Amino acid sequence: MGCLMEKSKFFSDEDLVLLIPLNTEKIKDRHVIQLHSGEKFHTKNGMILHDDIIGKTPGSIISTHIGFNYIALDPTLKDIIKHYPKFRYKTQIIYPRDWGLIMAFSGIKNGDLIVEIGTGSGAFTAFLSNIIGPEGKIFSYEVDPDRARIAEENLRNTCSTKNYIIKIKNAEDGIDERGVDIVFIDVPEPWRVLRNAWQALRFGGQVVVYIPTFNQLQKTLKVMLLYGFIDVSVKEGFIRDFQIKPYAVRPKIKGYYFSAFIVFGRKGTFIPIKQIKEALKNLNKKQEGSICHRKIKRKEHSAFLF
Ligand SMILES: C[S@@+](CC[C@H](N)C(=O)[O-])C[C@H]1O[C@@H](n2cnc3c(N)ncnc32)[C@H](O)[C@@H]1O
Repeated sequence: MGCLMEKSKFFSDEDLVLLIPLNTEKIKDRHVIQLHSGEKFHTKNGMILHDDIIGKTPGSIISTHIGFNYIALDPTLKDIIKHYPKFRYKTQIIYPRDWGLIMAFSGIKNGDLIVEIGTGSGAFTAFLSNIIGPEGKIFSYEVDPDRARIAEENLRNTCSTKNYIIKIKNAEDGIDERGVDIVFIDVPEPWRVLRNAWQALRFGGQVVVYIPTFNQLQKTLKVMLLYGFIDVSVKEGFIRDFQIKPYAVRPKIKGYYFSAFIVFGRKGTFIPIKQIKEALKNLNKKQEGSICHRKIKRKEHSAFLF
């Protein structure tokens, strides 16, 4: 037992619980805590006894010792990442607002074999871990040992299924796995690892690259097209929060309006000639030489890699 509530529908010792203050919409006043019988939790609105939550159903009102009310709910992964102090950030993460878009367009599913390049804080690893379930496997590459250690702790604290292995390794030096269904890339210089990603993927496998700036996007696209990724597309997710006031329904004035560009592509057995021509436009001779060293048999409409 522990961490995320089981189907019993009553909070038990070691469950995580989300506490939402009843009289304010301030997101920063929310808390996620782990229940331990006999312990207390101090909020700025007074103290809560863990034993007052244990045995209650999600949705119950819990009062502090000075009578301030909180709603107790079972947290989702996004709540844990945002409000649980034991989830520590050392890096930017792939934000929950993009998780759904990535899931829909990458086709990730239960049982998939995944490579992730750039574990960072492990937020996206936790999401992937939930999606692929116990049948799937994630090999997550992180070059910084300190970040890898924190990500391990974070993943333990989000109670993810142990279907992941964090490898302390620079993905530029190679990816050990083969026949991979999807490679997710979230590093500052994705173009440096795309070739290794291509080699790791099975034919038809997907690459997904998370990119925060236009400069990185342009460079990444060029390299992806030349390395033989097909069916390439770039997407951006727009999300607007609305204020929940029936007399004044409109989007909230403050919000986050940009997170990243998300590039999708698949590994095929050929590169369309049109794609190569597009990508080679504006390259100087030296760059052209280094990219065209791959042996490709030219046909009328496409360049075959095999
Ligand atoms: C933006 S963070 C990833 C955040 C992660 N996606 C999340 O949601 O928590 C990028 C991480 O990639 C790592 N990194 C950068 N280049 C790398 C490489 N070539 N191989 C492995 N890791 C790399 C960095 O050390 C950093 O921790």
